Amino acid sequence: MTKKEKLVRVRKLVEPIYRKLKIWPHGWSHVKNVAKFTKLIAEREGENTYLCQLAAYLHDLGRLQEEARGPVDRTPGVQGHAELSTEPAKEILDKVKGLQEKDKKAIIEAIHYHSLKEFPTRNPIGLILQDADKWDGIGRFGAARLAAFNAEMPITGSEARSDPDKVLEKILKFASNNKNQRDKLITAMRFVVEWYDLLNTKSAKELLKKDWEFSKKYLQKLEELNR
Ligand SMILES: [Fe+2]
Ligand SMILES: [Fe+2]
Repeated sequence: MTKKEKLVRVRKLVEPIYRKLKIWPHGWSHVKNVAKFTKLIAEREGENTYLCQLAAYLHDLGRLQEEARGPVDRTPGVQGHAELSTEPAKEILDKVKGLQEKDKKAIIEAIHYHSLKEFPTRNPIGLILQDADKWDGIGRFGAARLAAFNAEMPITGSEARSDPDKVLEKILKFASNNKNQRDKLITAMRFVVEWYDLLNTKSAKELLKKDWEFSKKYLQKLEELNR
């Protein structure tokens, strides 16, 4: 089996799991995007695209357990989705033939810490995964994800993918009619706009620049609604 075939196999194993998630911004489309971005960043950084993509496909598996628990609980000591992802990720990695122990360990470490503000080691898989994960919150599609998840606006994943411009207009309309949702979206967008400085790799900064510029402008439009 080639590495490409192994990745296809892993995709087939994880897709049905992510499809069970009720909240689309963290579901299969997000994971596919993260895998795509991970590959782009890893290529530019000269890092192992295969290992980085494996980490991307497995990085949010714990969302299912987290979602089943109820609203996201950020109390210190309570395991978040990143830590919850490591066990199901190990189970799948054990099915991938030919992986070295050190590579498995690096992938699990990348998954374990991916949701921290700063990655605690110099593990390239972790640094790249974190950047790719952030990318999906930036730009047009990112704004739609935030509107649906953080501001609970009725935006579907398929409309966000098929007609992003129409969706962005729709979000502005919701935001102008509902201050509570608007404020939630502004808070989320501000957080995301600040991510740019936290990106780990030079390549991600280059690749994301346009999407980041978009997010900054869109945030301004939202903030203007408060004036
Ligand atoms: Fe995550
Ligand atoms: Fe993620």
